[in-house]
Amino acid sequence: MSNSVESASDTVMLKEVFEGLTKPQKSLPSKYFYDKKGSHLFDEITELEEYYPTRTEIWILENYVDEIASYLGEEVELVEPGSGSSEKTRILLANMPNICCYVPMDISGDYLFKVAEQLQADYPNIKIMPLQADYTQPFDLPEYSPTARKVVFFPGSTIGNFRKERIELFMKVMSEMVGKEGALLIGADLKKDQEVLEAAYNDSKEITAAFNKNILSHINHKLGSDFNTGLFDHKSIWNEKDSRIEMHLIVNKSHSVQVNGTVIDFEKGETIHTENSHKYTLEGFAEMVSPWFEVKKVWTDERDYFSVQYLEPK
Ligand SMILES: C[S@@+](CC[C@H](N)C(=O)[O-])C[C@H]1O[C@@H](n2cnc3c(N)ncnc32)[C@H](O)[C@@H]1O
Repeated sequence: MSNSVESASDTVMLKEVFEGLTKPQKSLPSKYFYDKKGSHLFDEITELEEYYPTRTEIWILENYVDEIASYLGEEVELVEPGSGSSEKTRILLANMPNICCYVPMDISGDYLFKVAEQLQADYPNIKIMPLQADYTQPFDLPEYSPTARKVVFFPGSTIGNFRKERIELFMKVMSEMVGKEGALLIGADLKKDQEVLEAAYNDSKEITAAFNKNILSHINHKLGSDFNTGLFDHKSIWNEKDSRIEMHLIVNKSHSVQVNGTVIDFEKGETIHTENSHKYTLEGFAEMVSPWFEVKKVWTDERDYFSVQYLEPK
């Protein structure tokens, strides 16, 4: 098939897809899970029996919302990179009159604008300012009020999906964005039994499998490639050394795929590494963020499965 790359974002995607698929351990950036279908599949994952993170984080937010509000301050501009359905944010928007403005930010534009429209209807007193942007690339934040305190809300332990260099870049960008007076409210998943972790990412309804394979369909759609998702199987494994769940697509039959005119070979048994989800100890997390932020307060659930943390720039 001929070159079907049309936009600047498709050009970035093509470059990143090539980079990932030409490494000895093939990989793809996890942000490409999320087209419209991927965003919906992720929402389904969050409702699965085995998938504890979303429900546990929601429990923490609901139980401690008043205390969290007291940490955030009087007049807050809340910014959420990778906002998705904004479901968790609704807990804050509904219970914190101190939030004057909310900037949901997402790479998946159609979904973002639909969610934002509904939020504006549901919370008429809060200015909803959606921003379609890739937070790994430079972006400009819409200004609302110069006096509002900028607080970044980064739930879902999305930080755990980042590599070390990405964490450094993200923390630096966020600390500069909120400024000395701002803050970061962040969800961090905690270390726990391997069986609990592996079950959460290999669910019995195989929604996570569909979500993982959707990265190939999304790339086909955007780049005109010819991945056959039937030639890949989903698998998530716990990597103890690096304290992370790794999501892979395992090739079940040797074959070749054409991406923008270039042929890429896949051997039976090799994998495409699609995502990492790091799990933390509270001490390890505080140390990881310490060059940029100080952890001021931590809220957890009864089993210490998950944490919501309030951080201030150093
Ligand atoms: C796992 S969902 C999390 C949604 C929500 N923050 C929560 O915790 O429930 C991740 C969201 O981040 C978005 N996303 C992923 N990578 C992104 C990037 N580089 N820039 C902007 N949004 C991104 C996806 O489109 C998706 O909606």
